[in-house]
Amino acid sequence: MRMVLLGPPGAGKGTHAKRLANDLGLVHISTGDILRDNVKKQTPLGKEANNYMDSGLLVPDDLMAKMLDQRLNEPCVNKGFILDGYPRNLSQAKTLDDALGKRNMEIELVIYLDTSEPVIIQRLSGRLVCSSCGANFHITNMPPKQKGICDNCGAKLYQRNDDKEETVRRRLEVYRRETAPIIKYYEAKGKFYSLSSDGQVETVLNNIKQFVKGHNDSFKV
Ligand code: AP5
Ligand code: MG
Repeated sequence: MRMVLLGPPGAGKGTHAKRLANDLGLVHISTGDILRDNVKKQTPLGKEANNYMDSGLLVPDDLMAKMLDQRLNEPCVNKGFILDGYPRNLSQAKTLDDALGKRNMEIELVIYLDTSEPVIIQRLSGRLVCSSCGANFHITNMPPKQKGICDNCGAKLYQRNDDKEETVRRRLEVYRRETAPIIKYYEAKGKFYSLSSDGQVETVLNNIKQFVKGHNDSFKV
């Protein structure tokens, strides 16, 4: 199964992609996580991407295309994957189709996590991320067992730079202007499905799993 999780910032793409990938035996490809890892390691890509990310803007398409290509070259990707954070505009949607086409693959399913704006703001303003393993928590919705400490690996939790209120607003504007138009692109291909993501994590996750199973009977949920 090759699928895209699409949705505005705070929709829960990362939260659900990690769980789904684990439960369904797929690879999780998060372009945001790869970029943050590069920023942390101060690689040339990280240095170039940092300012765009901190201001809530998209990193240029050519850098993203190279990154995608490298990730798709990894052999583990052949078992199937969930894309989280890519594509982000029409040009990236076409780049993705080309990159997969060269490998005799295609996207089978695009699931849109439909989320209302007050929910987005509440989620992002309380999000906490692990500085080591990247796990997501939330101050009230999904609090860690010990304040400020990751349940999985014991490292410190931090607030993402781009989760400041002003930057969240910019990310939402960028989402509406550049990312939302790709919904039509996937609708036209008959691959687009919308599910509500306003509910509790377990409810949303189960809905996604049931839906994916309906598309692919080899998945047990
Ligand atoms: P990226 O990391 O992809 O950020 P994003 O799309 O803005 O999405 P988020 O990670 O903020 O939200 P999410 O949907 O993953 O929600 P989450 O699961 O964390 O990108 C960051 C930046 O990198 C971009 O701005 C850009 O600069 C750059 N970039 C990345 N990809 C790019 C690309 N392709 N092209 C160009 N630039 C690119 O959930 C949020 C919070 O809510 C968490 O705290 C979670 O615990 C909580 N939560 C989630 N679901 C629920 C629920 N159902 N109930 C209660 N709480 C919930
Ligand atoms: Mg994310």
